[in-house]
Amino acid sequence: MKYFVLVAVGILTLSQEISLIRVSQTTAADASNVDECTDYKELSGPFRTFTYYNASLEMCDDHLQRGWYRFLRQAGRMMPTNCVPKFHCGTYGPGWLDGDHPMPQDGRVMRRICFHLEGECCKEWKMIQIRNCGNFMVYHLEPPPECPMRYCGDAVTEEAHILEEERPTVNEETPTVEEKRPVVVEIPDECENHGLLDSADRSQGFYDPFVSLTDAGLSPGWYRFKDGAGFQMANRCVKLFHCGTHATGWLKNGHPTQSEGAVAREVCFHWRDDCCYFRQQIMVRRCEHFYIYKFPRMDISYLRYCGEGSVMDNHWLTH
Ligand SMILES: *[C@@H]1O[C@H](CO)[C@@H](O)[C@H](O)[C@H]1NC(C)=O
Repeated sequence: MKYFVLVAVGILTLSQEISLIRVSQTTAADASNVDECTDYKELSGPFRTFTYYNASLEMCDDHLQRGWYRFLRQAGRMMPTNCVPKFHCGTYGPGWLDGDHPMPQDGRVMRRICFHLEGECCKEWKMIQIRNCGNFMVYHLEPPPECPMRYCGDAVTEEAHILEEERPTVNEETPTVEEKRPVVVEIPDECENHGLLDSADRSQGFYDPFVSLTDAGLSPGWYRFKDGAGFQMANRCVKLFHCGTHATGWLKNGHPTQSEGAVAREVCFHWRDDCCYFRQQIMVRRCEHFYIYKFPRMDISYLRYCGEGSVMDNHWLTH
């Protein structure tokens, strides 16, 4: 195998593809090489929660070491998902999660952290990775864009805690009597019955010039991206010869919300110098915690729908 790899590198130096190999090796560093569910630091201070108010505190997370963090004890268990008012959480610029927390099966997901400053809930922001470790969340954090900004937790004061427990647990979505909304929530059949595209060689981070797979034989129908392939379809142009194929398919114009239902979208396939050399109409739907895609029959070979996963244990590197 070693001999084979050497020969392969020899061939590749003749082409431009060698630069792509270097890229996939250097991006392998960072957040990915640790098991964040056991290897994390703690954020547990009492001033870090969104319920703590002190107008003379302007603490900053500029000293925070880049890495995985878990909120606990007096800081709370997770980040709040609503805009935090200024001077709460021990700072003038409190940071909160703009989006949902992932489910355990989602793996690492990208989310936006917003910092509330000067009356704007999202004046500054930062994309971070989050993972649900089963019974707690971990966040891959680094210093905020400026000072004073801080990542906030969701602890409530003891008083508020008691109030919360006394209140009957009512789902926010539960319709009130006056509204008389229909209670039946219909789950579209395709959210429960769909194929899985889960192999790591389908992810946009996978690069191996000797793998040329195709979706030409894929049965038409609904599919979900999962596991090694990534949590969803890539939504930016994917490099040539990645994702286990030649021409790489990615979703144009983004994913729909759940209330939009099933929407028509275009998949672009990157080939030659064109990120959209081939095109294919598909349907996309958001189910509660994931997306599904309806693919028609594909006639051209060596095209593939790519997942947004960023494979680090690349076939190329591990053999
Ligand atoms: C607010 O923070 C300042 C500065 O640390 C401190 O001196 C003051 O006691 C705090 N106020 C309250 C009400 O905790």
